[in-house]
Amino acid sequence: MKSLISDTNGLYLDCTFGRGGHTKKILDKLSSEGQLISFDLDDAAMKVAKNIDNKNFKFIKTNFSMIDDYVEDDSLSGVLIDCGVSSPQLDEPERGFSFQTKGPLDMRFNQEQNLTCKDIIENYSEKEIATILWKFGEEKESRRIAKLIVKQREQNAIDNTLILAEIIKTAKTVKTKKHPATKSFQALRMAVNSEFENLTTCLDRIKDKLTKSGKLVIITFHSLEDRIAKQTFKPKINFHEKNLPLIHEDVSDKFKISKIIYPSQEEISMNPRARSAKMRIIEKL
Ligand SMILES: C[S@@+](CC[C@H](N)C(=O)[O-])C[C@H]1O[C@@H](n2cnc3c(N)ncnc32)[C@H](O)[C@@H]1O
Repeated sequence: MKSLISDTNGLYLDCTFGRGGHTKKILDKLSSEGQLISFDLDDAAMKVAKNIDNKNFKFIKTNFSMIDDYVEDDSLSGVLIDCGVSSPQLDEPERGFSFQTKGPLDMRFNQEQNLTCKDIIENYSEKEIATILWKFGEEKESRRIAKLIVKQREQNAIDNTLILAEIIKTAKTVKTKKHPATKSFQALRMAVNSEFENLTTCLDRIKDKLTKSGKLVIITFHSLEDRIAKQTFKPKINFHEKNLPLIHEDVSDKFKISKIIYPSQEEISMNPRARSAKMRIIEKL
């Protein structure tokens, strides 16, 4: 939190409350003037947030892509985004995020959303499923997996996480250290929750929401998420025409983007899921 908080009297936003671990740390650091708003889509997150008794804290159950509805431009001293799924969400079989425990094909962060993983598995074409697995999971055997899913669903209902994980395992020919369903489950979760679209919208809006010297701390678990963050805050360079010299550099807000910061051994031993986390600090100049 040291890297996020520069003004203890400022207004902060935690876009991904989860179970409130980061929110509580931010609140501990703020003065009696400082304020924190936290977002999450998950009903379980909302329940946990209700137990935080602090007059300077407000929880809003919303998608962080809706930031414009709740936050003024030039108002935030700091924003935190901790992408992806939380450990408790993964650990609850009935949420359907895990390939290790039997659960429904759900994977929604927002329990009020219509689209579930089941809809994708039952109704999307072979090509659409393969595209999801490749685009969001970088799964090299996406086509083989999609083909087997479509073949199997014509014979029997694929109605739980363990059946789906087994089909993926059967389809794959290349053995990996990680469970064979890891990439496919990640990809399906990202598709169900439109994760890249929401992140892209939110990051674009954050450019205007930060005050000068305000900071965004973003923790990502997927190389594409990190790339979206870098691209959003990099100065835009416009070329007149391909191969002609640079004629205009965007003069709008400028940002300093840190190198990737990896978790320490101590952090990984406390939370093994942090091992694939990458953090960047982006400061508005
Ligand atoms: C990795 S967890 C955050 C953990 C949190 N930092 C903590 O300390 O407990 C990510 C959370 O973001 C939420 N989430 C994912 N996409 C979201 C979105 N577009 N808008 C709001 N919340 C989102 C998920 O429901 C999940 O609870």
